[in-house]
Amino acid sequence: MKIEFVGADSAFSETAAAAILVHEKDGLQGEAARFDGLTGGALARAVSVARFTGGLGQTLEVLAPSGVGAGRVLLVGAGPVKGFDATRIETAAAHAYQAVKAGGAQTLELHLGEIAPDLAAAAAFGVRLASYRFDRYRTTEKPEKKPSLSALKVSVNDPSAAAAAFETLSGLADAIVFARDLVTEPANILYPEEFARRVKELAHLGLEIEILGEKEMKALGMGALLGVGQGSVRETQLAIIQWKGAPDPEAQPLAFVGKGVCFDTGGISLKSPDGMEEMVTDMGGAAAVSGLMYALASRKAKVNVVGILGLVENMPDGNAQRPGDVVTTMSGQTVEVINTDAEGRLVLADALWYCQQRFKPKFMIDLATLTGAIIVALGKDVAGLFSNDDDLSAKLLAASGATGETLWRMPLPPQYERLIDSAVADMKNVGPRYGGSISAALFIQRFVNGLPWAHLDIAPTAFKPGSTIPTIPSGATGFGVRLLDRFVAQNYEG
Ligand code: BES
Ligand code: MN
Ligand code: ZN
Repeated sequence: MKIEFVGADSAFSETAAAAILVHEKDGLQGEAARFDGLTGGALARAVSVARFTGGLGQTLEVLAPSGVGAGRVLLVGAGPVKGFDATRIETAAAHAYQAVKAGGAQTLELHLGEIAPDLAAAAAFGVRLASYRFDRYRTTEKPEKKPSLSALKVSVNDPSAAAAAFETLSGLADAIVFARDLVTEPANILYPEEFARRVKELAHLGLEIEILGEKEMKALGMGALLGVGQGSVRETQLAIIQWKGAPDPEAQPLAFVGKGVCFDTGGISLKSPDGMEEMVTDMGGAAAVSGLMYALASRKAKVNVVGILGLVENMPDGNAQRPGDVVTTMSGQTVEVINTDAEGRLVLADALWYCQQRFKPKFMIDLATLTGAIIVALGKDVAGLFSNDDDLSAKLLAASGATGETLWRMPLPPQYERLIDSAVADMKNVGPRYGGSISAALFIQRFVNGLPWAHLDIAPTAFKPGSTIPTIPSGATGFGVRLLDRFVAQNYEG
């Protein structure tokens, strides 16, 4: 999507789709009134016969009579004037994109007129996110089935201020797209080494990237992570991404750790085939951490941050780990692997321990598509937050509220620790069915060595077939990138 900001006095075009925001119960103001004047009252007439009230999510397309120097206009509901903010205009603009994307026009002109630069930038951001599409493997799609829209012109009174405000958001959008692409890529293309290779390409943003292979991880004693990958012909990888943006390059970093199971068959505890293909998205945590590092680097965030990705494929095989196997984690604690499908926590156990040992970070936040049980508990729009630290939780919930990436805090009841007691090892990797997300989080907590820590179980939100949010086309969401970028910006940069 080509995006530019132009002056507000620009003429309406005959061929582009022009869109104008209308507030609820506010009549036709500004640009809407201008178009109405040009067309001899066509807008006012259309509004009076349609059920368009300016509510958020509503759109109404009106054709102009010929000879007035305008083609058609889309009225876009922006909700009441009161409370109109960046989030609202982002959503409204995304609705505008969805309404006209396949209508034949190549350019969407968003006529915003007199508006604050950050709101104009947010509108462009909404359209950019809404226009995400993964069509790398479509070779026979007819052109008329593809979206016709490929450019956005935002017309505002101060285009250069709006363009400047959009610069940071543009980097964030690129980062979200990077994460969405990783999640969408099929597992025959995106296996651990290929994931690591794509992350290494981010070095051009100023990120430092190291990749550990199985030999190095074996020497470190990462028996849990390596056990998960034992049945795969693909080599397990650990990616370490560093952003050093603080004035002091030695300043204590923040740390984010992602579950990167490039495909989760369940292993010997094989999943049933129904919907197993969705497990191509089981690296959504690692994708979100990669996207976050991308976003921080692209806006040169003034903070030191480490991102760690445990990249592995969980396969059944003659060499795969068996239910009942006991593995020794890098921490020295042993785990009886009751169910090879509870692999995410094994990946995180070693990745978190390594992170904490090597970097001594301020805190660690892990992201993982960890449990189906959290989807049962919270549904598809809300991710689970588990934490041993109230302050960290409050900051995450505040960033969640500001970005619309919703988190809900879940408990870590000490009396449930016994649910993962093992008869032969220090712990087992699964508890009973009830409270499955909680016993998973309690398991992970044993590998943070007392550091402030939060665990985001993003199994609900990483991938949403049939999304109804206009900025999130159906499929990979990039959930976590915006949230954590905001969380870092709000709390740790200055
Ligand atoms: N990757 C899955 C969790 C998952 C399920 C993510 C659905 C997204 C959508 C995870 O590795 C898993 O298999 N969890 C098991 C744990 C169980 C064996 C204790 C689950 O949730 O069934
Ligand atoms: Mn699994
Ligand atoms: Zn998994």
